Amino acid sequence: MSLIDEAAAFVRDRSQGGDEARVLVIAGSGLGGFVKGISPASEVSYHDIPGIGGSTVAGHAGKLVFAYCGDERTPLLVMAGRRHLYEGLSAQEAVRLPQAILQAFPAVNKVVISNAAGGLNPKFAVGDLMLISDQINWMFQNPLVGPNDEARGPRFPDVSDNYSKALRGLARQVALDEGITLREGVYVGMHGPSYETRAEVAMLRHLLGADAVGMSTVPEALVATHAGRQVLGISFISNLLTTPAVTTHEEVMGNAAQVEERFSRLLMALIPQLHRGV
Ligand code: HPA
Repeated sequence: MSLIDEAAAFVRDRSQGGDEARVLVIAGSGLGGFVKGISPASEVSYHDIPGIGGSTVAGHAGKLVFAYCGDERTPLLVMAGRRHLYEGLSAQEAVRLPQAILQAFPAVNKVVISNAAGGLNPKFAVGDLMLISDQINWMFQNPLVGPNDEARGPRFPDVSDNYSKALRGLARQVALDEGITLREGVYVGMHGPSYETRAEVAMLRHLLGADAVGMSTVPEALVATHAGRQVLGISFISNLLTTPAVTTHEEVMGNAAQVEERFSRLLMALIPQLHRGV
């Protein structure tokens, strides 16, 4: 049994009701409020899941939650917390858990990925929500490297619709209905953990044409697309790289508070519609 098979069997066992879910949310910074607002029907701590390397990563708690969310009690799987390459994991290791979850729950056909990102587009403000229209993998690692399991997905997956056009259309409509401004742009993934130098900021913006930069999401989006799932990505702009100010982790986390209510409301409105299908 591969490490992914082992983790998949474990989470399937421990997530009572998980079969009912059609949507997996990978909740990053900015979705703390959302995670607090749902009452879990079951939850599994990452540390307990075999095969995902939980014990190798210091201080990174996280859990997989299954919940019925909102008035419609929509069944939903939520990854509260994720693994990053900057923790010292390879891209393959970092995505082992979402990969296992998708394997365990074949009925999950949509993955919503959220993150905190630095704003590169000068029109962006701190607290903006940005619909990810596309991504640039600037991490110089790809989670799909290595032997390919054809049962999981193709060797050379097409990623030209990595962030589903249909789901983006839906997100725009829901945001409009909720009176929430949604920016849209290209997310570039960097390895981290250092934030960007001035020269890198200039390159990411002016040569690569990216609108926001972060240290996650790219590997997860590749794995989900490879596995035939539709992906919706939303960044919360936690800091601006377009100003002379320095970037600190405190700033990134501190600004999450101001977006949590809005982000949570958007997601709560989106989830039942994603569940029903686009
Ligand atoms: N750079 C990279 N990753 C980030 C940033 C940033 O400015 N903000 C939040 N995640």
